[in-house]
Amino acid sequence: MTAYLVNESRARMPELAEDGLAAAWIPDGERGAVRALWEEFAGAVYAHDDLVVSLRGRFIADTLADVLREEPETVLVVCGAGFSSYPWLLPFAAALEVDLPDMVAAKRRRAAELVASGVAADREVRHLAADLGSAADRERLAARVRELAAGRPVAYVAEGVLFYLPDEDARAVVRLGEQFGTTNVTAVSYWPAAAAGSRVLAEQRDWFLDRQVPADASYLTHHQLTELLGPTVLDLGPEDLQRRYLGRVDVAESELIPEYVAVARPGAAA
Ligand SMILES: C[S@@+](CC[C@H](N)C(=O)[O-])C[C@H]1O[C@@H](n2cnc3c(N)ncnc32)[C@H](O)[C@@H]1O
Repeated sequence: MTAYLVNESRARMPELAEDGLAAAWIPDGERGAVRALWEEFAGAVYAHDDLVVSLRGRFIADTLADVLREEPETVLVVCGAGFSSYPWLLPFAAALEVDLPDMVAAKRRRAAELVASGVAADREVRHLAADLGSAADRERLAARVRELAAGRPVAYVAEGVLFYLPDEDARAVVRLGEQFGTTNVTAVSYWPAAAAGSRVLAEQRDWFLDRQVPADASYLTHHQLTELLGPTVLDLGPEDLQRRYLGRVDVAESELIPEYVAVARPGAAA
C-alpha cells in the first residue's frame, strides 16, 4: 500500500506533475484507502509530499522529453521504477523498467490491464526483476540493457530509490549508466548528506518503521555526484525546483523531504 503513496502525491498535483497515469496505477478498489493513508502520512510526517514528488518527476520527465526530441531512437531504462509512468508518457523506442520481483509482477499486471482498457498506450516496455543492491544483478541488468539498446542512446533514471541502498551500492547505481555503453543522460534523485538530520526525514523514518519499511538510509554529497557523473551535473533541490516550476518558493526545504535531482548529460552542449 505504501508503494502507492508517491502515485497519490503525483495525482494530487496533476498540472505540476504532468503524469496523467499517476492515479491509474492504483487499483480502483484501493483508491479510498490510499487517499486515507496519504492523509495519515501528511498529518504524521509532512503535508507536502505531493509537491516534492511532483517536482522531481516533472523535472525528470522534462529532461527525458528534451533528450527524446534530440535523439528519437533513445531507449529508456528506469531503476526502482515502482509505479512511475515515463515509458507510457513519452514515445521511447523501447524501455526497460527494473525493480524487485514483487513490484515487477504487480507493475506488469497493472500495465497489461491499463493497456487492455485503453487507458495506457501500448508501448514496447520490458520489466526486469533485479536487486540493485546486488553487484551480480547490476551486471546482469547492464548486459540486458546493452542487448536491448543495441547501440542506441540510453536515458537512465534512478528516482526515489538510492536512499534505500547501502552507500556503496547507491554509488554503484548512480554510475550504472556507464556500463550501458551508450548512456547520454542520467537522472538520479538522492538525499544530501547535509540534510541527514532533517526533522521531516526523522518523522518519515518513524512512520515507515511502524509499517515495516527499513529505517537505514544512504546520503550523497554534491561533490560525490560530480565525481560519479562528471563536473557538468545539474543538481537541483526542492527549493530550486519550486523556483523553476512555480516561479517562487512556497515551502522551505527545511519543511520538506530534502530530495535532490541530479542530471548529467555528458554529450549535451553547455
Ligand atoms: C519510493 S519508490 C519510487 C518508485 C518510482 N521510482 C517513483 O518515483 O515513483 C522506490 C522503489 O524502489 C524499489 N526498490 C527498493 N529497493 C530496491 C532494490 N534493492 N532493487 C530494486 N528496486 C528497489 C521499490 O520496490 C520501489 O518500487
